[in-house]
Amino acid sequence: MIDPYGRNITYLRLSVTELCDLRCRYCMPAEGVCKKRHEDMLTEDEMVGAVRAAARLGITKVRVTGGEPLVKPNILSICRRVSHVPGIRETVLTTNALRLKDMAVQLREAGVKRVNISLDTLNPDKYAYITRRGRLEDALEGIRAALSAGFEKVKINAVLIGGFNDGEVPALAELTRAWPVDVRFIELMPMPGSEEFGAEAYMPCSEVPKKLPEAVPEDKHDGVARLYRLPGALGSVGLISPLSSHFCAECNRIRLTADGHLKPCLHSAEEISIRGLDEDGVLEAMKKAIAMKPRQHGALSAKEKSFSAREMNRVGG
Ligand code: 5AD
Ligand code: SF4
Repeated sequence: MIDPYGRNITYLRLSVTELCDLRCRYCMPAEGVCKKRHEDMLTEDEMVGAVRAAARLGITKVRVTGGEPLVKPNILSICRRVSHVPGIRETVLTTNALRLKDMAVQLREAGVKRVNISLDTLNPDKYAYITRRGRLEDALEGIRAALSAGFEKVKINAVLIGGFNDGEVPALAELTRAWPVDVRFIELMPMPGSEEFGAEAYMPCSEVPKKLPEAVPEDKHDGVARLYRLPGALGSVGLISPLSSHFCAECNRIRLTADGHLKPCLHSAEEISIRGLDEDGVLEAMKKAIAMKPRQHGALSAKEKSFSAREMNRVGG
């Protein structure tokens, strides 16, 4: 479906849970989220029904996200059913990789074509710090499992945080020479719940190429990422700049939260509930949500917070 600003909305981000086995400082409060009542969350059937409605409106790609989707006990069934919805050509998944060691092959078999893996640092102590509990080695094992499971693509997403991992830009970019992966640096977004970061943390992605003198810009760009390549690399280095350069003009997405709310834009407070609606009702709600997509989101910076009413784990990364 085409939105009021001429953008073709073809991409649904489906959050299947608010829960996560990590507590990344920019995403979740330290104490985690209070577990909602079961009946407040969408059921598997409701999620699949929503994807069917979305496909009727022209959605062709679904990203399964969280929280951490792999903590959801029925995640394989959700992926399998979503990937079989007529019209859905690509089912992809975002994960912290901790559980991929045991699940990568099954996810591939369930129809997941590609995975995006969150990894902000290659230093075990810093990994434990930023995730408040994770073990770097578990994430690396998960990445290796993803690489051997035969996904069409494995991407690594690193949130760029000034004063934390800006010194690791070269090391993270080197992963594109070691492995057939794309590495993407994402500007830290000032979401609710990420108040602990000062102005220096909000570093523009334009700093990244300065730290990679060998990187050559590529002509093509991948969705919202500007691409570079290191000589001899197997994958690209991408820059995703929600703060320093709006990519709203090319936004083709809509979001559905695990508790059944459509979000026209990640950074707006507006939400439309689909709780209790049948497939036709969901279709109408989606039309309304797409019609409500703002032309662009407001300014974001250390001082100008996102208007999102939710922390990132409750929206879907
Ligand atoms: N800023 C930027 N990216 C974020 N993510 C979560 N919170 C933020 C934030 N405040 C992204 C991370 C993670 C994905 C799940 O969501 O990149 O990889
Ligand atoms: Fe979990 Fe991802 Fe949020 Fe980290 S960023 S707490 S891994 S959902």
